[in-house]
Amino acid sequence: MMKEEDRMREGPAGSQPVLAPTESLIELVELSAYYGSLQVLKNIRLSIEKNKITVFMGPSGCGKSTLVRTLNRMNDGVPGFRTTGKVMIEGQDIYASDVDPVLLKTRVGMVFQKPNPFPISIYDNVAFGPRIHKLAKNKYELDSIVRESLQKAALWDEVKDRLSKSATGLSGGQQQRLCIARALAVRPEVLLMDEPASALDPGSTSKVEELMVELKENYTVVLVTHNMQQAARVGTKVAFLYKGDLVEFGPASDVFENPKSPLTEKYIRGSL
Ligand SMILES: Nc1ncnc2c1ncn2[C@@H]1O[C@H](COP(=O)(O)OP(=O)(O)OP(=O)(O)O)[C@@H](O)[C@H]1O
Ligand SMILES: [Mg+2]
Repeated sequence: MMKEEDRMREGPAGSQPVLAPTESLIELVELSAYYGSLQVLKNIRLSIEKNKITVFMGPSGCGKSTLVRTLNRMNDGVPGFRTTGKVMIEGQDIYASDVDPVLLKTRVGMVFQKPNPFPISIYDNVAFGPRIHKLAKNKYELDSIVRESLQKAALWDEVKDRLSKSATGLSGGQQQRLCIARALAVRPEVLLMDEPASALDPGSTSKVEELMVELKENYTVVLVTHNMQQAARVGTKVAFLYKGDLVEFGPASDVFENPKSPLTEKYIRGSL
């Protein structure tokens, strides 16, 4: 995977920067996924665009979490789990043998349904990844990463005076924004969010939604949600999965106002 700057440097000396001809960042190519003999994703083919919010929705068990977890190989350790087809990120197959899965997880970060801060200080939660990956040369740089990450996650003002206090003392909504800050601290390109607001109250939910919209300026966001209003509010493109099949994929307004498939329509009406 290449960062934008690297890609721009690719051009011959003196030439105009060369940009990839497409805005697509991630390509799923005939992606199937299995837990043992159970096939849960069936030949999924779609593109995830850069700096957009791509939403996956569908009934419980249709494969949404499995799909997003294939995007950073989060399921590698699950016994019996395997994929066929390809997940290409900036043209590179992330399941190729020369890809380091640990490094991949820093490029493709993840936020889960339930906030899961470590039972250590707020500061140490955010500094955790940068320390492991040696992203800071000194304390000053680490402090800056922690501050910037908390600012990006719209949490800084609420915690700047209690950075050394335990993260478990934060409210659920604050804990979730802390988890977002923790993911951002290792400077990912992509942020996977699997029902990030489903455990939150309406106030915290709108904060997280506003945050997602801000984050897409600099990151590519992949969101799983059961909340159709949320999908319509924040989604650029929406994918509807049903029993492992990609039934529909298109601009959010098309999918919600003019669904092509009767299955999507039923799901939107709440009768599936
Ligand atoms: N670790 C696992 N081992 C075996 N089967 C699994 C595992 N995780 C998920 N599955 C199965 O894979 C299918 C898809 O699950 P997945 O978690 O991707 O669905 P989902 O769309 O995210 O559902 P939900 O909306 O309930 O979160 C389900 O049949 C589920 O039971
Ligand atoms: Mg799920």
